[in-house]
Order: sequence, then structure tokens, then C-alpha cells
Amino acid sequence: MTLVNETAPIRLRDYRRPDWSVEAIELEIDLGIDSTEVTSRITLHGDPAKAEPLRLDGEELELLTISLDGRALNAEDYRYEKGVLEVSDAHGGSVLETRVRVQPAANTTLEGLYLSGSREHGFLLTQCEAEGFRHITFFPDRPDVLARFTVTLRADRERFPVLLAGGNPAGSGTLADGRHWAKFVDPHPKPCYLFALVAGRLENIQRDYLTADGREVKLVIWSEANVIDRCHYALDALERCMRWDEHKYGRNYDLDVFHVVATHDFNMGAMENKGLNIFNAKYLLADPDSSTDEEYRAVEAVVAHEYFHNWTGNRVTCRDWFQLSLKEGLTVFREQQFSADMNSLPLKRIEDVALLRRTQFPEDAGPLAHPVRPAEYREINNFYTATVYEKGSELVRMIAGRLGQEGFRRGMDLYFERHDGQAATIEHFLSALGDANRIDLTPYLAWYAQAGTPRLHAKGEYDSARREYTLTLSQQTRPTPGQPEKTPLPIPVKLSLFDRSGTMLPLHLQGDAQVDGTERVIVLDKPSQRFVFKHVSAPPVPSLLRGFSAPVVLECDYSPEELALLLTHDADGFNRWEAGQQLAMLAFDTSHDGNDSAACKAWCDALAALFTLQTIDDALLADLLTPPGEIEFADRQSEVDPAKIHAQRQSLQHRLAERIGVSDLLARYRLLSTDSHAQLEAASQAKRRLKRRVLELLVLLDADQAHELAAKQYDSASGMTDRLAALSVLVRTNATQASAALAHFRERYADNPLALDKWFTVQAQVPGDAALAIVQRLENDPAFTLKNPNRARSLFGAFASTNPSGFHRTDGAGYALIAERLAQLDALNPQIAARLATAFNGWQRLEPVRRSAARLALEGLAQREGLSPNLSEIVSNVLQ
Ligand code: ARG
Ligand code: ZN
Repeated sequence: MTLVNETAPIRLRDYRRPDWSVEAIELEIDLGIDSTEVTSRITLHGDPAKAEPLRLDGEELELLTISLDGRALNAEDYRYEKGVLEVSDAHGGSVLETRVRVQPAANTTLEGLYLSGSREHGFLLTQCEAEGFRHITFFPDRPDVLARFTVTLRADRERFPVLLAGGNPAGSGTLADGRHWAKFVDPHPKPCYLFALVAGRLENIQRDYLTADGREVKLVIWSEANVIDRCHYALDALERCMRWDEHKYGRNYDLDVFHVVATHDFNMGAMENKGLNIFNAKYLLADPDSSTDEEYRAVEAVVAHEYFHNWTGNRVTCRDWFQLSLKEGLTVFREQQFSADMNSLPLKRIEDVALLRRTQFPEDAGPLAHPVRPAEYREINNFYTATVYEKGSELVRMIAGRLGQEGFRRGMDLYFERHDGQAATIEHFLSALGDANRIDLTPYLAWYAQAGTPRLHAKGEYDSARREYTLTLSQQTRPTPGQPEKTPLPIPVKLSLFDRSGTMLPLHLQGDAQVDGTERVIVLDKPSQRFVFKHVSAPPVPSLLRGFSAPVVLECDYSPEELALLLTHDADGFNRWEAGQQLAMLAFDTSHDGNDSAACKAWCDALAALFTLQTIDDALLADLLTPPGEIEFADRQSEVDPAKIHAQRQSLQHRLAERIGVSDLLARYRLLSTDSHAQLEAASQAKRRLKRRVLELLVLLDADQAHELAAKQYDSASGMTDRLAALSVLVRTNATQASAALAHFRERYADNPLALDKWFTVQAQVPGDAALAIVQRLENDPAFTLKNPNRARSLFGAFASTNPSGFHRTDGAGYALIAERLAQLDALNPQIAARLATAFNGWQRLEPVRRSAARLALEGLAQREGLSPNLSEIVSNVLQ
């Protein structure tokens, strides 16, 4: 094995304040598809007596001219090598002017300045977070250097009629030779990762907005002409989240314009550039014919997420990239709160916890585990992870829960008051929240520093003579790379006690003044602690970790009956779902070779009863009827056989379907089908969600009949949710009707890339050994390209990361294919390659045959010449 990582990591503990900062930057950019010239004038701030020489970041810039304080520099006055420009003789107040050339059309990394779409019709745009600005001009590319930006764009008017940059518009006009210019001034100092520009032929829709504090703002959404009609939902969502932020957090927008731009070529979901958000079209465009209900919700959530960054990220930014979760975890939390307010709290919580378990728990349990605030990194783009985002949000939620609604608002107010205009740290955040509430939150810092998911063990004992219930809680976190020892964390456990008839009991916690109430939070902050509840008349059933009050794995020896009781009686939708998930896990662990265990029977009986009752919300019922996913089941095993897990999970669902019975499933399917219009109302969405689940259960019992229904549903669907659900059932269960439906879909959406992505994904998710040949056929489809991240993900991401029984073949052909494509992708777009490579996470826990095949593929990949730092880091970490 060669050592792939030779560069030294960057460490949190080595942080130093910048010697040089930049007060203001003036950019003049002459845009062209092949060649763009960037003139930058930066006014420096620093004391040469104390400082190191001035060093600016710059990657692959063709330096045309350079001058300091009006004097052209000679070769001995500066040095530009290995991504650093060093200039001697700069002093406080000096103005450094550089002119560089970059090549947008040749840039396939989608970082820095690049071209989206074709040379003839596409447009130019930028992506700077985390370190893309250094691909545009020389600058101290670090988030703790905040400067005032003035930007002038110049371009051919016919080819680039629209010119946009962040900040407020400050004039525009005509130049000679058919060129024109537009100027923008951003009054808020910002780090360079928030800089953005867009130039090309774009259409817009707009709306006037008056902020709560009286500012008139123009909200403008831009896209290419053929999709501008699909931006209205996003514009509505934008207005909703702006109002919400005013109301919930007292935060107002702070510029005269707010631009949002959609592109099909984007590495991530979206980007919060100041005043000029740029979105992956997947998270901005929505229409009933091509978007599912889930996608509508995702658009609303991402629009809100990026907007909320204006305060949590932009006005208060991060001191360094180790603090990434300061903005991302907090903003995800705010986005989740907003989405819950707009839709449904329990459904949102279920969705978020399921996502955490599917993406973050495996990350935290394997070789890529890292703390929410990592201690070191090599390639920062590899740290935009589920841990930083999703677990980061859970930490904020825990702390917010500790402070209560009003306390959290007080804390946030103080955080903004203290740090507006600054680059802050996670300590600053916790201090502000704590100080505003006179609570010491420093114990929570350990959550940010320690990787791994804590296991919370709960054991209850009932003493009938004393009428006491003793709950013993203990915690343990397994070692993670670089962290063999773990410390105990403060774990808030929200709980209730139920009697055997399903009624909540009043809680009398020993040694506690608070006597009333049926729900409360206890905090475990030692390795182990006992909590005694008094005046308990009969052995209770504890409902623990309600609302998922901490991101831990709960281990509690519930009997199937106890879980069934919670599944049936818990008033809280989330906990009801959680009890069902636990029960399904138990059923999974105990059912073998068609022998139904008590747990399996309890799970099926309880769900069948809820199914017939018809008193539960349709969407919640759909979630209750869904067992944990294959990745979650695999997460609990040591010798993972994905094919076996798939089969076992299928048989669990088969039992459930049998218990409910064909006739009840059919009757409910028919009932749900009467609502045939693709309305966005919650009730309609809920019906579609349940209808899909019922169809998926039905196909397990009577495939022919279900296929007929699915084919009919496909043909008559009035929206994408029903259409895609039907298509997916047909394709995944190998129906004879599948090929006609696929051909129809391919043709109908030939010009709609986002819809076509779904066509690729549905097929890449066919379970089992059949998937590989399908993927190999699809990569030869003329519409397939590795150059577009959405398309590459729709096929290879779907296959490698969401289809365990397809990817993990015993012959290793899935691994070989993905390793090969990773190398190709890496040459084009290292960020996307590195992200896709995380599909190999967890390979060490596979059963031996697959494990050695995966190792072979990974080692072969690691030995290739010229891998990017991004992909090398992931591959070498995954291999260790
Ligand atoms: N800050 C963006 C967000 O809203 C993500 C940008 C990440 N970009 C990257 N190249 N890693 O979450
Ligand atoms: Zn974000």
C-alpha cells in the first residue's frame, strides 16, 4: 500500500489570527467564456513590523500584472508558487492591484468561476465556499478576513445581457463594442467565500417585499428561460421564510435586493452568497408534473436554509473552517424548525431522525468518524458532512431544549448582539446562549469535540412494596479513529411513564421539587446514574428519549408487548413511530427462516389494528408501516450480508402485508385513489404517501394485481408523486409493465434533466444482482454524463449509496465499477468524486467475501497516479 496522504493536516489548535486583513476590495471583471480577466485592488491592513510577509492565496491564476501602491512590481518584489503569492514591502494602507486571467469554460470542477450549460447558451457563475475565491483572484482566502466588496462586471451585452453580483446595485451602463457594465456595492463586510457573480441570458420573476423593520426589498429569482415558470413555488417559500425569521428570531433582511439563481451544474444543494444565493436547480424548481411532494418540501427547506444563513453564517460568520457547524448545524436546526412549522412537527422529526440514522450514524461508526468540530482536516470540502450538518443540528436542538423556547431566543438575541459583523467560534455561541440564561453550557462543548454516537443504556426496576420505579441510565461511546478514550457527555432524556392500559402517569422524581406533569427531562452526565420515581402504583412502561431528545442509540430491554403498547398509545407521533421502529428491529433480530417471533407478531398485530382504526393521519400511518431501512439494519451487525438483510427486511414486510390482508389493503388503496388531483395540501400529500406504502405492501402479496394497479396509476397520475411511486413499484419488482412505463417516462421527460435524473435513479435502485447490468446499460444512455453532478449522482450515487443489495455483490463487480468511475470522475470534479467514494464507508464490517473484494477495489484506487487531495483523503481514511 502506498501512503496516499503526504501533506500535513491543518489543525484547529494551530489557529492564528491573520497578520494581514483587507479593509476593502474592488473587483473589475471582464467576462468571457474562455477567458475572463479579473482586476483586483485590495486595501491592506496590518503592521509589517509585527507581521509575516504578506501572503495571499491564489490557485492556477495566470498573473498578468501586479502593482503595489501604484508601482509595478519587479520579479524580485514578489513570488507566486504553490498557490501562494508573497509580496514584500506591503504596509498598512497599501493597495495591491493584480490582474489575472482565468478560464471558465475549461473549469470542470464547478468551483471558482465556471460555465453552466453549453458554450452557446450557458451562463457563467461562481462557487467560492469553501476555498473557491482563490481560483478567481489573489486574496487571504480564510473566513476571518472580512472586507467590503465593490464589484464591476463587464461583458458583451448580447451574450451576457444579465450581470449580477452580491450587494446592492450601484449603476450600470453601455460600453463600446457592444459591451456593457454593472456595478454592485456590498455595505456589509464579508469573507470572500460569500462572494458571487452570475452572467448570461437569464429570465426572472420578482416580487416586492417589505421587511418588518421597514426596508423595501426586491426578491428576484433567475433561471434559464425554459424553466422560469417553475420558480414560483420557490418565490412563495422565500417570502414565507423571511416572515418566519422576522417573527421567530426577530431577524430582518439587510440589502435592497435578494437574488436567487438556479443552475443545473452545481456540486452541492445551494449556496448562501450574500445577496446572491445560487441553487442547484433540484432545490429551486418545482411543478406538479415533474416534482414529487418530497421535492416540494425539499425546495421549501433549502430556500429557507440559504436565506437563514444571512444571519447565521453571513452576518455572524465562522472564524475558521473548524467552526463550520457554527453556521451549518445552527442553520439546519432553524430550517428544521421552519419546515416543522410549515408542515407537521412529528412528520418532520421522523424524517430528520431517519436521515440522521441513515447517513450520520454510519459515518460516526466507521473510519470517517469525526467530531462535529473536527480537530484537523486535509481537504475542507470533505467536511461538509452529515456529522457537521445533521448531528450539528441535533446538538443545537439539545441545547435549545435545555434553555426552553424563550431562553433560546434570548440566547440567540445575545449571540447576534455580541457577534454581528464578526467571525465567531462555537465557544462564542455557547457563551452567548449560556450568559443570556445564566447557565453554564460548557459541558456541551464535549459533544462538539467527541466523535461517535453514544449508546444510552436504560434499565428499569419496579419495587412494588415501596411503589418505586428506579431507572438506571448509563452511557458508553466506542472508540473512533484518533479518539480511543471517550468522556461522558450530558445527555438530556425526555421521558414519560405509561401504565399498562396506556395512560401516562404523573412523575414524582425523588429529590426533585418539581412534582407535577407527565413528561420531563432528566440529564445523564455521568457514566451511570439512577433516577427514582415515587408513588408508582404498578410496573410502568417508560417512554424514553421522547422527540429524540439526544442523538444517541437507545438500548433498553423492552418486551415486544411494551413496545406495542407505546406504538398503540403514545400520544406523541414521533414516539409512536420510534416504538414501531424499535419493535421492527426486535422482530428483525428474532425472526429467522420464516419462524415468526413474538416481536414480529406484536409488530404486525399493532400495525394491523392501527391500519383498520383509520384514526391516524395518513402520512403518519405510512411512516409507521415502514420498517427501518437496510442501512439501519446493517448498522447493528458485525458481519454484514446486504443481500440477506434485504431478504429479511422484505420478509418482515411480507408478514405485515399478510397480517393486514389483501382485501383491506385493496380497499384502502381504492379509497385513497379517489383523491386524484395533485394538490399540495397536507391531506392530499398524506394520501399519496399512504397510497404508495399500501401499493408497496400489496405487491408483496399479489404481484399481478398490484402491477395492474400500478400500471394504471402510472398512466392516470396527475402529478409526479403518484407517477414515480407507480414506476418505482413496477421497476423494482420486475413487472412486465415496467419497460413500457420506463420508455414512456424517458420520452416524456427527455428535455427535463431533473425528471430524467429520477428515471436513472429508479432503475439504479433495483435490488439485488440485477442492478449492476442495469447501471452499465444506463451509463451508455446518450443522456448520461459524468460531467453533471446531479446526473452522476442519479446513477452512481443511487447505486452505490442507496442500493446496498445491488452494490455489495459477492463478486465485487459493483466495487470495481464504482472504483473505475471514481477515478474518471476525479479527473473532472474532485469534490463529487470524494463524496461518491464515501459509499465505501462501512466496508470493514462486511462479511469476509465482500470485505476482501471491497479492499481490493479500494487499494487499486489508492494506488492510482494523480488522485486529487479530495479523493485521496477519503480513500486513505476509509482504508485505515
Ligand atoms: N454553505 C452551503 C450550504 O448551505 C454549502 C456549500 C458547500 N460547498 C462546498 N464546496 N463544500 O450548506
Ligand atoms: Zn448551509
